Amino acid sequence: MNQSVISEASSYVKKQLKETPSIGLILGSGLGVLGDEIENPVIIPYSEIPHFPESTVSGHKGQLVIGTLEGQHVIAMQGRFHYYEGYSMEQVTFPIRVMKDLGIESIIVTNAAGGINESFNPGDLMLITDHINNMGDNPLIGKNDEELGSRFPDMSQSYDRELIQHAEECANKIGISVQKGIYVGNTGPSYETPVEVRMLRLLGGDAVGMSTVPEVIVSRHTGIRVLGISCISNMAAGILDQPLTHHEVIETTERVRENFLKFVKEIISTLR
Ligand code: 6GU
Repeated sequence: MNQSVISEASSYVKKQLKETPSIGLILGSGLGVLGDEIENPVIIPYSEIPHFPESTVSGHKGQLVIGTLEGQHVIAMQGRFHYYEGYSMEQVTFPIRVMKDLGIESIIVTNAAGGINESFNPGDLMLITDHINNMGDNPLIGKNDEELGSRFPDMSQSYDRELIQHAEECANKIGISVQKGIYVGNTGPSYETPVEVRMLRLLGGDAVGMSTVPEVIVSRHTGIRVLGISCISNMAAGILDQPLTHHEVIETTERVRENFLKFVKEIISTLR
């Protein structure tokens, strides 16, 4: 990834802004509504931004929403780019580079994920404590630009401990319970087989999804603090005796929407 391409995208966005955003938000499947709560929003469709790919999945809008949320300057992605759509890892993570260039210091990455841990229930929110990159690819493969980050970035505390603790305190404060666990990033787009789910559980996974891992790797490469939140939208294959549907994913995220919104707003309002 080269700086001049990133700069062309970030300059296009920056010239429409009065304030520098400090917190980035990636809103996953069914969770994009948080973007609608941003005040005095500047809305920029991805299709307008130089070098941005365009989003294709239903339930994803495909735009940046920049403005104020709970008194903080935020930049939200309503819709993200998924590897399974055919985008390269570089394309999937390009918006992270751009948001870094725009000045964000922290990012809240959200997703819908299947529960692997049998003690979880659909509708649970899970703070991601670590991940397993099971995508067989890495967004940092290729020539490294030392200006952007290290050739061999440390991933030992990728999900910021202080942010996790802060989020737990926020959950307590508003009286919701949250899980903590390991997110497994698979490519999709097919869901896992029951035996794959058993394998991922043996490996220590608590939830599985098709996103987040690339964005978190690049966030760490570029020095952004990460908070990851999974909405457990359904149990992964084989845990319950029922088939998986994208419909269930959307239905559950709609059901927990209110708690999710309250939770993320509380996190943002007191984030330092
Ligand atoms: Cl069960 N698997 C994957 N890979 N992604 C999901 C999911 C399951 N449920 C929601 N997203």
